[in-house]
Amino acid sequence: MERLQKVIANSGYCSRRKAEELILEGKVFVNGSVIRELGTKVSHDDEIEVDGLSIKKDHNYEYYLLYKPRGVVTTTNDDKGRKTVVDLIDTTARIYPVGRLDYDTTGVLLLTNDGVFANGLMHPANEIDKVYIAKVEGILSGYDVKMLKSGIMIDGRKTAKCHVKVRSVDKKKNTCIVELVIHEGRNHQVKKMIEAVGKKVIKLKRERFGIFDLSGLKASEYRRLTAKEVHVVYSMIKK
Ligand code: URA
Repeated sequence: MERLQKVIANSGYCSRRKAEELILEGKVFVNGSVIRELGTKVSHDDEIEVDGLSIKKDHNYEYYLLYKPRGVVTTTNDDKGRKTVVDLIDTTARIYPVGRLDYDTTGVLLLTNDGVFANGLMHPANEIDKVYIAKVEGILSGYDVKMLKSGIMIDGRKTAKCHVKVRSVDKKKNTCIVELVIHEGRNHQVKKMIEAVGKKVIKLKRERFGIFDLSGLKASEYRRLTAKEVHVVYSMIKK
C-alpha cells in the first residue's frame, strides 16, 4: 500500500505537491469514489482517476524526442521494407510515433508507448502548436500569406486560422522560406496549403511541436523526455 499522492506523482502525472492539491480539490477518484484525505493509502489493484484521466501505476512508459531525418517512414513497420522512425531508437518497448511526418520531412517527432500522452498531443481540441519551416518554390505574395493565415480550402475543407511569416526571399532562385504555425494535423497539410496558393514545398522541417524543439540534437539523434517534460505535457492535455 502506498500513499495516494505518491502513486499519482510516480505515474508522471504531476508533482507530489500538485497531487495533494488535486486531492484536496476533490479531483481524484479511487475505484469511482472521490477521495479528499491526503493520507489515503492505495494498492496496486486500485483504479485511480485524476480529472477524468486514468493513472497508470506501472513505470514502463517511455518517451522519446527524435530529430527525424529525411528518408525514413513514420510508422512502426513498413510493407516496402523501408527504414522506420522506430528503427532509429534503441529500445525493446513497443513505442510508436505521435502523429506523422512525411518521408521527406525532417524535424521534431515524439515517440512513446503511452496512449494517453500520444492521443492528448494529437487531439485537435488541445491545440498544440506545430511550427514548420518550408522552403517554397515561387515567392509568396502578401495576398497568399493573408489567404493562408485566414484559412484555405484543402480536400474540401477550410484550414483553421494560423500564423504565417515569410522569413526570407531569394529572388534569383525564385524561392522563399516560410514559417507556418498550425495546430491541426491533417494529411500533408503544409504541402497542400502551399499548393492551394499555387506554389510548391521543396523542403519541410518541423522546428517545434508544443514545448519540444530540436535543441542539442542533430538529424537522426534522439533523447528521452525528462519527467518534468512529461508532467508539462500532461498539464497541457488534461483539459
Ligand atoms: N505537413 C506536410 O505537408 N507534411 C508533413 O510531414 C507535416 C506537415
